[in-house]
Amino acid sequence: MNVAVLPGDGIGPEIIAQARRVLDKLGLKLEFQEAPVGGAAYEKHGHPLPASTLRVAKDADAVLFGAVGDPRYDKLERAKRPEQAILGLRKELGLFANLRPARVHPELAAASALKPEVVSGLDILIVRELTGDIYFGQPKGIRQKGKEREGFDTMLYSESEVRRIARVAFEAARKRSRRVCSVDKANVLETSQLWREVLIEESKTYSDVELTHMYVDNCAMQLVRNPKQFDVIVTGNMFGDILSDEASMLTGSIGMLPSAALDENGKGLYEPIHGTAPDIAGKDIANPLATILSAALMLRHSLGQPQAAERVERAVSKVLQSGLRTADIHTAGTRKVGTKEMGDAVVAAL
Ligand code: IPM
Ligand code: MG
Repeated sequence: MNVAVLPGDGIGPEIIAQARRVLDKLGLKLEFQEAPVGGAAYEKHGHPLPASTLRVAKDADAVLFGAVGDPRYDKLERAKRPEQAILGLRKELGLFANLRPARVHPELAAASALKPEVVSGLDILIVRELTGDIYFGQPKGIRQKGKEREGFDTMLYSESEVRRIARVAFEAARKRSRRVCSVDKANVLETSQLWREVLIEESKTYSDVELTHMYVDNCAMQLVRNPKQFDVIVTGNMFGDILSDEASMLTGSIGMLPSAALDENGKGLYEPIHGTAPDIAGKDIANPLATILSAALMLRHSLGQPQAAERVERAVSKVLQSGLRTADIHTAGTRKVGTKEMGDAVVAAL
C-alpha cells in the first residue's frame, strides 16, 4: 500500500513526523512517498500544488496531509496561495465527503471551555460536503462597479452533489445512533432550499434513520448549549468549515481532531482539522494527536486495517490516561510534554 505524505507548512512537518513514526511502529507493509505542498512547494517549485505533488497524491492509495498556510504568502495572487493546494487536492481527487468526528476523550472533559457535564461523553460526526458550495461555485471575483469595487462568490449545489453527501451521512448514521441533522439556511438561501428538498427525498430510502433539519445559526448556538443532542450533522462546505471548528473546541482542543476526506471509492486524504499554527511552528510544542488519529482513520477507511486503526486509537487513549498533555490540553495535575515526547509516548503505548 502506497501512502502519499504531504507535510506542508508551519507545524505540518513536526506533527506528520510523529504520525509517520506511529505508522512505522505498526509493522505494516506501507510505502511512503513524501512531496512538498503549500508554501513549502511554492518555495521549491513556484506553485502550492505542483504537478509532481498532485501525481504522487493521485498514484497513492491514501494521502496523509499536515497543514498548509502562512501569513507570509497572504499577498500572493490567490492561485499561488498555500490554501489552494488543499482545495486543489480535494477537487482533483474528487474528495467530496469530509468526515469530522468530534469525540470527547474522558480525560479531556476538563480541558473543554464548556462545563464537563455538557461535553463529557460527547460523540458527534460532522459530515461536510467538500468539493462544492460557495468554495468552488463560479463565477467569483472582484470587479469594478461604477466608482467602487465589488466582490462576489457563487453558492451553488447540484442535486447529485447533495444526494451523494446525503447518502454518506445516512450510511454513517446507520453505524451510530441513526440520527441525521441536516444543517442549512433554507429560510434565506435557494441553495439551501434545494439541499433540504434533496435530503428529504433521499431519506425515504433510509427510513431506519431519523432526519431533522436545523438552520445554521441555531446549530452554532445548539453546539455550545447542548452538543450531546447531535449524532450525525450533515452540511455544506462553508457551514461545515465553520461548525467543525466550533465543534472541535467542545473536545478540549482543535489539536485533537482528525478528519477524513473521501472520494466515491474510499480513497481518501487524511488531515488534522487544525491549521499550520505559524506562531508555534518549529518549537516542538504542537499537539501531534490529531494527525496521529488521522492516520488511524486512514488505516480504517482507505487501507483496510481496522484493527491497526483501533490499536492506534487505544494507544492515544492510554497516553492521555497516563496524564501526558501537550500545552493546548494541559490542565493542573497533568504533565506537559512536547510534540516529540507525545509521539514517543504513543509509539511506546503501541
Ligand atoms: C479546513 C480549512 C480549509 C477550508 C482552508 C485551509 C482552505 O479551514 O480544512 O477546514 O476552509 O476548508
Ligand atoms: Mg476550516
